[in-house]
Amino acid sequence: MTLPVIPAPATETSPDGTFVIRDDVAVVAQSAELIEVAARFVDDVQADAGFTLAGNPGITVMIDTAGLEEVAPVAGLRADGNEDADERYGLEVAGDGVRVWGATAEGVHRGLTTLRQLIAAHAHDGTAVLPATRIIDGPRFAWRGLSLDVVRTFHAPDEVRRVIDMLSLYKLNVLHLHLTDDQGWRVEVPSRPMLTEVGAKGAVGDRAGGYYTRDELAELVAYAAERFVTVVPEIDMPGHTTAVFSAYPELAPAELRSVDLGDGTSIPLNTFEPERPEIWAFVEDVLDAVIPQFPQSAYVHIGGDEAWGMPDEAHAAFVERAAALVRERGKRVVGWQEIARAAISSDEVVQYWLEPRQLESLDGDASSMVPSDLLPVLVEHMKKAAQDVPRAIAHGSRLIMSPTSRLYFDCPHAEPSSDPAQEELRQRVGLPFYTPVSIRGGIDWDPLEVTPEVTSDTQIAGVEAAIWCETITSQEDLEFMLLPRLPGAAEKAWSPNPTDWPDYATRLSHQSPTWRSREWTWFKSVEIDWK
Ligand code: ACM
Repeated sequence: MTLPVIPAPATETSPDGTFVIRDDVAVVAQSAELIEVAARFVDDVQADAGFTLAGNPGITVMIDTAGLEEVAPVAGLRADGNEDADERYGLEVAGDGVRVWGATAEGVHRGLTTLRQLIAAHAHDGTAVLPATRIIDGPRFAWRGLSLDVVRTFHAPDEVRRVIDMLSLYKLNVLHLHLTDDQGWRVEVPSRPMLTEVGAKGAVGDRAGGYYTRDELAELVAYAAERFVTVVPEIDMPGHTTAVFSAYPELAPAELRSVDLGDGTSIPLNTFEPERPEIWAFVEDVLDAVIPQFPQSAYVHIGGDEAWGMPDEAHAAFVERAAALVRERGKRVVGWQEIARAAISSDEVVQYWLEPRQLESLDGDASSMVPSDLLPVLVEHMKKAAQDVPRAIAHGSRLIMSPTSRLYFDCPHAEPSSDPAQEELRQRVGLPFYTPVSIRGGIDWDPLEVTPEVTSDTQIAGVEAAIWCETITSQEDLEFMLLPRLPGAAEKAWSPNPTDWPDYATRLSHQSPTWRSREWTWFKSVEIDWK
């Protein structure tokens, strides 16, 4: 068996021998810049597996580049824009101790994350007998993320911290916060107080709204940064702006339109109108207030998706001007794939999500699940989407791969849970018009197989999962959809090696002791023989 580690390391050899971890095995940092990552590791191992790790030196961490050239250079873009970053690491378990090294503290942190997983998987009655190993590892892509919808259900800061802990455990390094949408506005803009006084009140249905204060966001951003996770803000424009219009009705179009869904709800077809100067004053105020709250991020996500009801020319004009305003403020632009329909530059990053197979299913099975008035809107949208990737490539833009059928974690779970008590959750959570996805189906792909046009890692910025929260009402629902899918996304984003299902299923089964210790909810798929 390969090591019980996700994502799978790039290279690994298994000499003979073991090293035994007990409470009295301590970590020694050989340089001052590693004291913090070593301390974080000790706290994490305590929370994952209960070891205190205080006593005699046994685990040594150091700045060193030995052997790191054995892994291929990383592809893609860093969300923090740090061109000198290096996440590669070496990890050696031998009879006389454990050594973890890298060129940077971040690299050493990634190596210690692998060690955390090894310790938790081997922990038994107060000892963890680690098999001897030598790992040289580094990521395939620099941008490895999760997009979290905090609008349809507002997730309190403590819930978001739990999600950051999950990202960190699987070497994911981007938390993309979807902060604004039709149902709510979740970030403070002091010059536009009604956004939080009025716009933040709502969520889906009668769920409580809310927003993150500047202090709460500063704490979240710092908590993430300590774990080498960059928080990227999304302000979704020019569609998905109903919460703005409820806060500032004077910004709304004169005539409001919507598609009736027949169940008492409707989908708005109202967008920002780029010809109106007051829209641009608003956008500038928002960017000026939001950008400083995310100091680690080199990017602002401007949304750009599903601007239904908006003429193509107006959408393109909007994206071009919004992108220019972001660039003027020293940040780079990322947007959903629809931004490729505008005259963007190679600096802009395009997030792929709409798959042709969705159009096929709208023509077939799913058509009965979609309200009849909405169907033509979706079909027209999907037809245009077919040209988005070729356009993005023609602009020289790089793509974040978020294919719906693999990485939209609000697709229902396909297979039953081994815990009958979870079946009610499984039936309720997940958008019913998506084809259900199994754990195996979620990892049985490669980023280069997603679209015919993307044939080289050099065209890819990274890999990002997304979770939309229309059907997710609580922390339990959220975690039930994130786990066990999140490690699968991390495997695709990090590991250069193809994933072999039986091997992956075994590695995944070893994750549950940590999840149990941390009291994280997870979907107990019958596909996995959970530990
Ligand atoms: C999206 O799912 N509307 C990007």
